[in-house]
Amino acid sequence: MADEPLVLGIETSCDETGVGIVRGTTLLADAVASSVDEHARFGGVVPEVASRAHLEAMVPTIERALKDAGVSARDLDGIAVTAGPGLAGALLVGVSAAKAYAYALGKPLYGVNHLASHICVDQLEHGPLPEPTMALLVSGGHSSLLLSADITSDIRPLGATIDDAAGEAFDKIARVLNLGFPGGPVIDRYAREGDPDAIAFPRGLTGPRDPAYDFSFSGLKTAVARWIEARRAAGEEVPVRDVSASFQEAVVDVLTRKAVRACKDEGVDHLMIGGGVAANSRLRALAQERCEAAGIRLRVPRPKLCTDNGAMVAALGAEMVARNRAASDWDLSADSSLPVTDPHVPGTAHSHDHVHETARENLYP
Ligand code: KG4
Ligand code: ZN
Repeated sequence: MADEPLVLGIETSCDETGVGIVRGTTLLADAVASSVDEHARFGGVVPEVASRAHLEAMVPTIERALKDAGVSARDLDGIAVTAGPGLAGALLVGVSAAKAYAYALGKPLYGVNHLASHICVDQLEHGPLPEPTMALLVSGGHSSLLLSADITSDIRPLGATIDDAAGEAFDKIARVLNLGFPGGPVIDRYAREGDPDAIAFPRGLTGPRDPAYDFSFSGLKTAVARWIEARRAAGEEVPVRDVSASFQEAVVDVLTRKAVRACKDEGVDHLMIGGGVAANSRLRALAQERCEAAGIRLRVPRPKLCTDNGAMVAALGAEMVARNRAASDWDLSADSSLPVTDPHVPGTAHSHDHVHETARENLYP
């Protein structure tokens, strides 16, 4: 195990400052500082507030992760950081910090993809990913079906949402119901006490002529909002639990149906579910049920590893090191729309030869 790469990962694409440390596929530390409370009163993440919070939390969170892992920064084999996609200003804080640490310590820098990290994190929970792996990626900004033959180099999108992401739909419906932000966890909680069959909400893009692997949640969102408005207009009470359960069922029904179909069509016997919405209890249960019925093995990380964290970035960084992928250049920049087909941002070879030993000694004595 000592031969496996020791990597620190930094995640700042949204509102969590995450710093994780892994050795190969073993999780050593997962420190997270969240600014979610600072955004709650605005009903969504405010980019400037997030950036400032990252700046304040960065160094203490790195120090805490190193302490939790019981390792010295000097022993690291590499520093990985989310290069995108995400909020530009927020990403920039992480990328700048990663560069500073990597340069000062004389370690290779790996700018990695946030979405690929959401998939790779499952290696920390269930061991190496089978190749190929089918991944259903569901977060606040993305909903995609991805087929990956190698998480460090080969990710093929089969389908994606044509409008809202699944997490976005949870957040919007929670707002209509006045349940606060983020909406996913609250709706998940209310739904447990509601009837998923109480209201028949539409299942987007599930007709015979619709694209098999694309998603649409905008029509569902409008249907739920209208249903709620009609109740309110009639002076009736809104049954929050039933609305939550019925809305959630419509989302997870479509997600799991399409994911299982993609596995069958592509002859893949493993399904991985990642991203914040993968923390949803009903999605996990229904996916388990449908995968079992179809003879597919399901892999979903524990909820804490599904939502944004630094361990997922470290996990992908460690895989980059293990597979000898080229490190990033010192001029690595944040790319708010980094495509999912780019698992990392490789630089030109030898870029790290430019690190000046003396400069390093001075920066990190
Ligand atoms: O992956 P993530 O932490 O950040 C992004 O990369 O976007 O995902 C955040 C999203 C939010 O929309 C949040 O409401 C949703 O994941 N989420 C959930 C649950 N926990 C978080 N959605 C449904 N059920 C949950 N338990
Ligand atoms: Zn995410």
